[in-house]
Amino acid sequence: KLVPIILAGGKGERFWPVSRLKNPKQFLCLDGSGRSLMQSTADRLLPLAGGWDAIWVITASHLADGVKQQLPELPAENILVEPQGRDTAPAVAWATLEVAKRHGDDAIACFFPADHYITDEPKFRATIQAAADLAQSQAAIATLGIQPTFPSTGYGYIEQGDDAGQYGELAAYRVSRFTEKPDRGVAEEFLASGRYSWNSGMFIFPAGVMIDELKTYAPELMGPLLAKGVDAYAELEKLSIDYAVMEKTQKAYVMPANFGWDDLGDWNAIERLMKGDAANVDMCQHQAHDTNGCIVYSSDEEEVVVTIGLEDVVVVRDGNATLIVKKDRTQEIKKAVKALGTED
Ligand code: GDD
Ligand code: MG
Repeated sequence: KLVPIILAGGKGERFWPVSRLKNPKQFLCLDGSGRSLMQSTADRLLPLAGGWDAIWVITASHLADGVKQQLPELPAENILVEPQGRDTAPAVAWATLEVAKRHGDDAIACFFPADHYITDEPKFRATIQAAADLAQSQAAIATLGIQPTFPSTGYGYIEQGDDAGQYGELAAYRVSRFTEKPDRGVAEEFLASGRYSWNSGMFIFPAGVMIDELKTYAPELMGPLLAKGVDAYAELEKLSIDYAVMEKTQKAYVMPANFGWDDLGDWNAIERLMKGDAANVDMCQHQAHDTNGCIVYSSDEEEVVVTIGLEDVVVVRDGNATLIVKKDRTQEIKKAVKALGTED
């Protein structure tokens, strides 16, 4: 039994002001497909799941209505609503306990971020299937490794270890080390060594295996969660599954992914998808004069934005807010949104 679970409780602050508290990145249509990132994630899992009633979403309470609106096909019991956002370790822990409760410890839980862009979907699904076989036969936590292209400090890095056999067309390896979001220097070393891949953020494992690992490596989380269920959230610390389990477990395996993958982290990722040969990425009525390499977005498609003599700038308009930022400084949007001091 394979249970796909979409992690949809994040914020996506680097897309502010289009991404807001109650309308975060995963709810937005950013790739021109007409479906939000979360909807596209569900669409691509549907053939694997065999029906809407087999897909789960875990999200935070302020986003629950949005999830129901965007995925009306999902039965209510498949939407797990966290009282507070506590990052991915509690989300994975709670959802995995639910999978075990409903389908047993051997059920294969597959977690997917809600905000990725993936091409070659048949290959993607074949890879997940192979990773599920790997997870089942090795009692493993399977990860998918992405060929790194630059020393990103925003991803986890997976060091490939011993050969672990072939699953269909795909090779599998032990993970000898998992390092979440290294600093720049370390990321450069990893990239240069050629032995590392990026962690795709997808995790595939038998429910019982993850529950054991969480009990071993994150007792401060599992204790309260096992004792009180979802009521434990208020007392949980924010913690991601990468730090809680993946950096510590001996049961991690990696399969090099062979489909197209992009973590839509900020506006520069949108440019990678949409730019083509045009001078700018125009996501509204953009009147460009002597303007190049800019990304111009408005949530009102009729809105006119006029630019003169601009280069490599992102302009984003939404409701009562406008953001103008140099393309190479979009990492600083998070900080700027915090400094605004409003919740939204
Ligand atoms: N339910 C729930 N609750 N979901 C959450 C929460 C939460 O509290 N926090 C984040 N999420 C969701 C996000 O919406 C996203 O879909 C997914 O979990 C991953 O969270 P991110 O916050 O986007 O993680 P990241 O990008 O910093 O890092 C992870 O993904 C990278 C690849 O994109 C890590 O797994 C890295 O190792 C990995 O390289
Ligand atoms: Mg992410």
